[in-house]
Amino acid sequence: MKGVSIVSFNPLEQHGIPLERQIRDWQELNVSPVDPDMEDPYTKCRIIALNGIEVESIFFGHQFHRNTPDIELKQRLAEIRYIEHQQQKVVNWLLPGQASVLETTISYEQVAVDLTAWLARMEPDPYLKQAYEFGVLEDFDHLYRYANLYEMIEHRQAEKLVDQLTEVMPGRPTMMHHRHPVDNVREPYDRSTVDPRSRLHALTITAAEQQTMNFYMNVGPQYMTPIARQLYQEIGLVEEEHVTHYGSLLDPGETWLERLVLHEYNECYLYYSFMQTESNPRIKQIWELHLNMELEHLRIACDLMRTQEGRDPESFLPAELPEPVTFEPNKPYLRELLATQIDITTLGTGYVREAHERFQRMQEMVNGKEKPPSEHVIDDHRARFGRDYRMETDGPHPVPALREPGEEQA
Ligand SMILES: [Fe+2]
Ligand SMILES: [Fe+2]
Ligand SMILES: [Fe+2]
Ligand SMILES: [Fe+2]
Repeated sequence: MKGVSIVSFNPLEQHGIPLERQIRDWQELNVSPVDPDMEDPYTKCRIIALNGIEVESIFFGHQFHRNTPDIELKQRLAEIRYIEHQQQKVVNWLLPGQASVLETTISYEQVAVDLTAWLARMEPDPYLKQAYEFGVLEDFDHLYRYANLYEMIEHRQAEKLVDQLTEVMPGRPTMMHHRHPVDNVREPYDRSTVDPRSRLHALTITAAEQQTMNFYMNVGPQYMTPIARQLYQEIGLVEEEHVTHYGSLLDPGETWLERLVLHEYNECYLYYSFMQTESNPRIKQIWELHLNMELEHLRIACDLMRTQEGRDPESFLPAELPEPVTFEPNKPYLRELLATQIDITTLGTGYVREAHERFQRMQEMVNGKEKPPSEHVIDDHRARFGRDYRMETDGPHPVPALREPGEEQA
């Protein structure tokens, strides 16, 4: 295995593992999961994020091959896709079987909060940055709703899972996330002028949110408790909105091969990034192995682009990998967003502060007859425990109206 320089790293100049040597047998796929009570929640976040990245690369590969008549290209895609799928099996199977669905859910929302916040902080384009700042306040609220459900039905506190790294308190209330579908479509970036980092950011967050959507689609009905089943339906539909919101940022003018190159480049970027910060040495080795596989996927994708389109991938890829994507606390940043952006909604492809007519019509259709599950779960928790579950490590909630009743003046 090659040593990897931390200073500057251009994946186009590195040699990976030849494709035919990437196939793993059952023993190699049979990885031991991480310890469910492990001390670093961000290791679990990296696993969940990379699983989302691999799932996206698999589904993108399937769509690509259904949209090309070229048999040789289909065969090449099938070869790469099989490896992506083995990688997905290894990555997702690192999650411990002892974790309940709800515990994994809480980790999914922790990923959404701290990944989106990091991307928002680093994003150079103001319109894209606004899209991330808008979305993060919603997943922040999902974390709070699920944490309340968790204490109610599993009698444990979310602090055990998120540690002190991510605060748990209300964000933009989930009932306000139910916008008219038309208002979830954003404008795409322009592929001819966009900063290369922006393309990677948009691809990463779309993949992560899409996997969250898939996860809730499938696990929601596994609960017997009615409020749990209902909350997964409600938040699952918001994730549909998020996938629309983020997916529409990608320029549809990119060719299929350009998108293949970008997917592989982004996989290199994320495995490289997480290698830099991974606290568990055994998991770090997996990230390094997968990076060395991705380098070869990238080389193949770039070759396909050169031969089939006569274009140079160097013309749109950065000269070296951008600053590593990092899971780290974003508490002051999130508090600032809570204080300034909680009352925003979308109108067309932009943002407004007032509840416009189409928003109100949608609200009336979904929330009009009775309170949504995301409100019920807090009411039920308060009825049982005398208050909601929250973990405010840095002081009272920045929005007085979202403090516990009776503590608004705190
Ligand atoms: Fe992959
Ligand atoms: Fe969410
Ligand atoms: Fe989301
Ligand atoms: Fe790949």
